[in-house]
Amino acid sequence: MSSSVLARMPRRMLVTSALPYANGPIHIGHLVEYIQTDIWVRTMRMHGHEVYYVCADDTHGTPIMLRAQLEGINPRQLIQRVWHEHKRDFDYFGISFDNYYSTDSDENRVLSESIFNSLHSCGLIAVRDIEQAYDPTKKMFLPDRFIKGNCPRCNAKDQYGDNCEVCGSTYQTTELVKPYSVLSGVTPVKKASTHYFFKLSDPRCETFLRGWVRRLAQREATNKMREWLGEDDNTKLSDWDISRDAPYFGFEIPGAAGKYFYVWLDAPVGYYASFKNLCDQRGLDFDEWVRPGSTTEQYHFIGKDILYFHTLFWLAMLKFSGYRTPTNIFAHGFLTVDGKKMSKSRGTFINTNSYITTGLDPQWLRYYFATKLNSTMEDIDLNFDDFQARVNSDLLGKYVNIASRTASFLVKRFNACVLDSAMNHQLLVQLRVALPTIAAHYESREYSHALRQVMVLADAINVYIDEAKPWIQAKDPNNSAALHKTCSISLEGFRLLTLALKPVLPKLAESVETFLSIEPLKWSDITVSLSSMKPIRPYQNLMQRVNQGQIDTLLSINQQST
Ligand code: 2FM
Ligand code: ZN
Repeated sequence: MSSSVLARMPRRMLVTSALPYANGPIHIGHLVEYIQTDIWVRTMRMHGHEVYYVCADDTHGTPIMLRAQLEGINPRQLIQRVWHEHKRDFDYFGISFDNYYSTDSDENRVLSESIFNSLHSCGLIAVRDIEQAYDPTKKMFLPDRFIKGNCPRCNAKDQYGDNCEVCGSTYQTTELVKPYSVLSGVTPVKKASTHYFFKLSDPRCETFLRGWVRRLAQREATNKMREWLGEDDNTKLSDWDISRDAPYFGFEIPGAAGKYFYVWLDAPVGYYASFKNLCDQRGLDFDEWVRPGSTTEQYHFIGKDILYFHTLFWLAMLKFSGYRTPTNIFAHGFLTVDGKKMSKSRGTFINTNSYITTGLDPQWLRYYFATKLNSTMEDIDLNFDDFQARVNSDLLGKYVNIASRTASFLVKRFNACVLDSAMNHQLLVQLRVALPTIAAHYESREYSHALRQVMVLADAINVYIDEAKPWIQAKDPNNSAALHKTCSISLEGFRLLTLALKPVLPKLAESVETFLSIEPLKWSDITVSLSSMKPIRPYQNLMQRVNQGQIDTLLSINQQST
């Protein structure tokens, strides 16, 4: 028996996914990350490790404040409603958070203030006046995305402040010709105001970050971080503006009336706030997890677009306010649909809620994404023909088929009990030997490898069944023993495949556990097998096929004119 899976010491891990903004719905692009993290977390739990998976809504900032105004409600009403919508979506997709919290919480306020105070005490906060664009009618400073104007290169109208969608050039907001405020249409004016900065340019930050960079698991991420840090001894880091002026929805900075923490200051602190809230619920020692030198592990799963915030700001914030730093940060690529960016007009900007109301099985998407995911930051593509083919051919045609072809013989002819002497058949040994490698692929986030291997094993069992021909064995009473053996081997193979698929398909695995009358599967269950002492239950359909009509409905309800 391979013991590598069994010999592990229990580990203690805090795992997070990026906090979604509370001003919009969850869409399938978001789900890539939550599904990726959830598969990893479930893999770790199946090893018996102590794992806490936390997340929260990212609730602060100008867009949320303005969105609430538009809806005629206050921001707290908005974020409360959106929290429930997000939670519903995550629950539907089986995202197994231990805590799903909000950045607008007391824990987050206390932690953000204390981190700010610590950074202040060690001389890493600077205060200086800067000039920014201001909307004199709305009486507020304008973030770049609220300013539009003519492109300075091609003169196209109504372009955002950083790039032109017509000619593709990039530029500074100040270069826009005839700039106007998106909120009121008036020309922004320049206005000075006092801002707080995190002094990322301080040599202590640079030295620390240069030392940390080699810990990153992904080569592309390491390269990016090195690029941001610049050549040796020639740092390119600039100070980070962490304050915003009223009106703003967020936490007021202690001792600075009318100044608020920029949403990106308190958002990552929200990881810790959610975990602190969980610790209080479960009687865990928060400090033991977050202190420097802690023997616990901490992982952040994020999209590649927010690598900068995590590998520079968040790391430096933690380090210089007296916390441990993460064990690692794992970044993934974006989702494209049919090779293109998701688009509202093509109907490919798919909200999770529409997937739910169309009645599509969440496990189909979990499986499909998993077949595409690996440990790199490459984008992954969703193609609905491929989606349908993958799910129907792999999950139904290869995997579920094994049980549906053999279970009824066992129930009808053999009192639903397997033949114990068949449990060490060569085919089953082959599966048991392969499982630790599959578990290791999940751990290294190579899900596509893991699933490819699972399907090779499913093929082997199907070949075995095709050769044994149980439907013919069943016709000849003299072949009863052979039939018993065929069905027993097939169903034990099915149990092992279910174990291998469980991180991806937890709900299906639960139905199989009931069907096979077994305890919840964990990796160490490669050492046991089905037993004649525990009869299985009659087979019931485990999963529906994907049909084209459902996909057409999904795309049509997401179709919007632009
Ligand atoms: O990019 C985003 O969607 C942010 N709301 C992610 C925040 S992650 C963390 F740092 F809080
Ligand atoms: Zn242009």
